[in-house]
Amino acid sequence: MQQFLRHTRARLTAALVLNVLLGLFCARLAHAADEDRYDLWLRYRPLPAAQQAALAAAATGIETPDDTPTVRAAAAELRHGLAGLLARTQAAIPSTAQARAGTIVLARAGLPAGLAGADAVRRDLATLGAEGYLVRPARIGGAPVTLIAANSDIGLLYGSFAWLRQLQLGVQPSRVAVLEKPALPLRVLDHWDNLDRTVERGYAGESIWNWWELPNIVDPRYTDYARANASLGINGTVLNNVNAKAEVLSPAFIAKTAAIANVLRPYGIRVYLSVRWSTPLELKETKTADPLDPLVAAWWARKADEIYRSIPDFGGFLVKANSEGQPGPQDYGRNHADGANMLARALAPHNGIVMWRAFVYSPPAHPNQVSDRAAQAYDQFKPLDGKFDKNVLVQVKNGAIDFQPREPAHPLFGAMPETPLMMEFQVTKEYLGFATHLVYLGALFQETLRFDTRAGNKPMTVARVLEGAQDGRVGGIAGVANIGSSRNWTGSTFDQANWYAFGRLAWNPDLDSRAVAREWAGQTFAPDARVVDPIVDMMMRSREAAVDYMTPLGLHHMMGTGHHYGPAPWVDDLARADWNPVYYHRAGKDGIGFDRSASGSNAVAQYAPELARRFADPATTPPELLLWFHHLPWDYRMPSGRTLWDELVAHYDRGVAEVDAMQAEWQRLRPFIDARRFADVAQRLAQQRREAQWWRDACVAYFQQRSGLALPAGARAPEHSLDYYRSLTFPFAPGHG
Ligand code: GCU
Repeated sequence: MQQFLRHTRARLTAALVLNVLLGLFCARLAHAADEDRYDLWLRYRPLPAAQQAALAAAATGIETPDDTPTVRAAAAELRHGLAGLLARTQAAIPSTAQARAGTIVLARAGLPAGLAGADAVRRDLATLGAEGYLVRPARIGGAPVTLIAANSDIGLLYGSFAWLRQLQLGVQPSRVAVLEKPALPLRVLDHWDNLDRTVERGYAGESIWNWWELPNIVDPRYTDYARANASLGINGTVLNNVNAKAEVLSPAFIAKTAAIANVLRPYGIRVYLSVRWSTPLELKETKTADPLDPLVAAWWARKADEIYRSIPDFGGFLVKANSEGQPGPQDYGRNHADGANMLARALAPHNGIVMWRAFVYSPPAHPNQVSDRAAQAYDQFKPLDGKFDKNVLVQVKNGAIDFQPREPAHPLFGAMPETPLMMEFQVTKEYLGFATHLVYLGALFQETLRFDTRAGNKPMTVARVLEGAQDGRVGGIAGVANIGSSRNWTGSTFDQANWYAFGRLAWNPDLDSRAVAREWAGQTFAPDARVVDPIVDMMMRSREAAVDYMTPLGLHHMMGTGHHYGPAPWVDDLARADWNPVYYHRAGKDGIGFDRSASGSNAVAQYAPELARRFADPATTPPELLLWFHHLPWDYRMPSGRTLWDELVAHYDRGVAEVDAMQAEWQRLRPFIDARRFADVAQRLAQQRREAQWWRDACVAYFQQRSGLALPAGARAPEHSLDYYRSLTFPFAPGHG
C-alpha cells in the first residue's frame, strides 16, 4: 500500500510538473507575437536558451573567400539568420579574415590552408557540380569551424541556406552534415502575371512585379522574393503570363526586366519572358509571323541580341503557341518544332533556351468526330520527338487535362526520349479551392514525380525521365507561381507550403513530401513535435480530402465555368464540347466516366504497353483513376464490394469528414499558434468545410438525377435542391480574365 501511494504520488508530481511546464510552454507560445507571415519560412526566431548557447559557440564569425554579390548575399543571410536565432545583433557575428573556434568558413574551390581532411573535402567537391554544396563541422589549424564549401558562389549561398534550415529545425550545429546537388538544372517559377499587374489564376493580390514603376523604382520585396527562392534552390523565373502580350518585348519592358534581373542575379535566379508568337507582326515590324520566313527569324535574332545587351544572363523564352486561341506556327502550316527551333536559333548564340509548352488542344474538326482532349498533346508532339534543337525543352503539364485534383501522369513523359522535357506543375490552386482551401500539393507533386512510366519496359519514374535517365536528355521543372503582393505572399499560410514544397522537390524530386511538410511546419511554426506532427498530419490528408469532395475516382474538370471554383458538373452549353464538364464525366442512366480504352478514345494506348494494358481493364485500373479511363455502369462492383454509385457517395462523404478532422486538429493547436495565424487558418478551414459540403451535396444531387438511383442507405440527402446549386453564380471571382 505504502509503495502504491508513493508510486501514485510520484506519478502525480510528475504529471503536475509536466502540466506546469506545458502550461509555461503554451503560455509562451500563446503570447507569441502575432505574425504577418511576410518572413515565410525564413523566420529565424530565437532558439531555446540551451540551443542558443551551442549555436553561439559555433557562430563567432564568418570568413568568406572574396566579396562577390552572391558571397555577400550568403554572408548577409547567415548574419541575419544567426542574429535572429541567437537573439543578438548582427554585429555579434563579424567578418573574420582568419578562422578561429566557431568561425563559419565559406570556401569556394580553393580550400583554406590548415583544413583537416582537405583531400576528402576535395573529393566530395568534385562530385558536386556547379550548384552543389557541402556543409559540415571541420577543423582548421585545430580550431573547430563550420565549413560550407562549393565549387561556385551560388553553391555557397545554397549551403548557407541549408545550414540555416537545419538550425531553425533545432539541429545541433555540430550535427549538421549535408552534401547535396540539384537533380535538375532548371528549377523555374512561371508567373502568370500580366503587365497591368493582374494575375491569371492568382489568389494573392496583384503581381509583385510593379511594371509601372520599374525600372527606376525597385521594390525591396524583389530581394526577399529572391532570398526565398534561393533558399529552395529555384534558379529561374518567368516574369509574365504565358498568355503574353507583344509589348513585353518592347525596349521599355526589356529595361524593366533588366532591373528585376539585376536584383535576382546575386541569388542565382535568371529571368525569362513568355513571348507571344505574333510579336513582330503585332509591333508592325514584319509582315508575317511564319517561322520559316527569313525576315521573321532575323527579327527574333535581333530582338534576342537586344535583350542580351541589357541582360547578359537572360534565360530565354517560354511559349504558349496554338493553344487556347494563342497564335502559333500552325497558323502558317508549320509545326511546333519549326516554331520552337526558329526561336531557339535566335537564343543559341547567347546560351538561351526555349521552353515550348505542350498544352495544346483544339475542338474537333467536325462536331460528330470523337475527340479526346487528353490525347491531343501526345498526338501533336510525339511525332516531333527528335526534331527539336538542343536548346529547346518541351514543357508538359503534370497531367493531360489541366492541373486537376488528380490526373494520371501525362503520357508524354517517357514517350519523347529524344527531347528534354520540363514538368509543369501548378502551385497556384486554380482547381483546388484557390487560397481558401488547405490543400498541400507536395503529395500531388510526389505522386506525379514517382509515377512509373514503364518507358522502355523498365522502371522509369517521371522524375528519372526529367533527369535524363531514359536517354541522357536532362530536363527541368516549372511551377506556376502562387505568389502575389499580399503581405503573406501566397494568400494563405498553408499556400506558402506549396511554394516551399515545389522548390524543395524541384531541387530533389526524390524527397518525401511528408518530410518536406515537416521541414516547412518546423520552420513556419515551431520545431516542436506537438506542433509539427498534427500540422503535418493535416497537410498529408488534405490533398486526398480535396480529391474526395471534388472529383473522386478519376472524375475531372467539373468546376464552375471560367473561374473554376466550386462544383458545376451539369454545365453542357459552352461553345466547345471539351470545355463542358458533361464531356468529361459523361454521366447518364447507363453509368459514368470517360472511356479511354479501345472501345472509346483509346488514349490508354499512349502509355507504355505495360501501363496501357493495366489501364485498359477496369479491374486492373487503380480505383482512384477508374473513371478517368472507363465508363462504367452504376452497379459496377468496386474492390471494396460496394457498387460504383455507393462508392462515389462514400468518397464524397469521406472528403467532407476529412475536413472535419482537419478542423478539429487545428482547434487542438490553439495553445501553440499565435492568435493571428490561428484565427486566419481557422476561418479558412471553416469555409473549406462549408464548401466541401457544397461540393458533395451539389455533385451527389446531380449524379443522383443522372443515375435515377436512390441515395445509398444511410447517406444524407443534399441540403438543397439541384436547382439551387445550379442557380448559384459567382461574379467577380478572382484570377480569370
Ligand atoms: C488553364 C487555365 C488558363 C491558362 C491555361 C494555360 O486552361 O485555366 O488560365 O491560360 O491553363 O496553361 O495556358
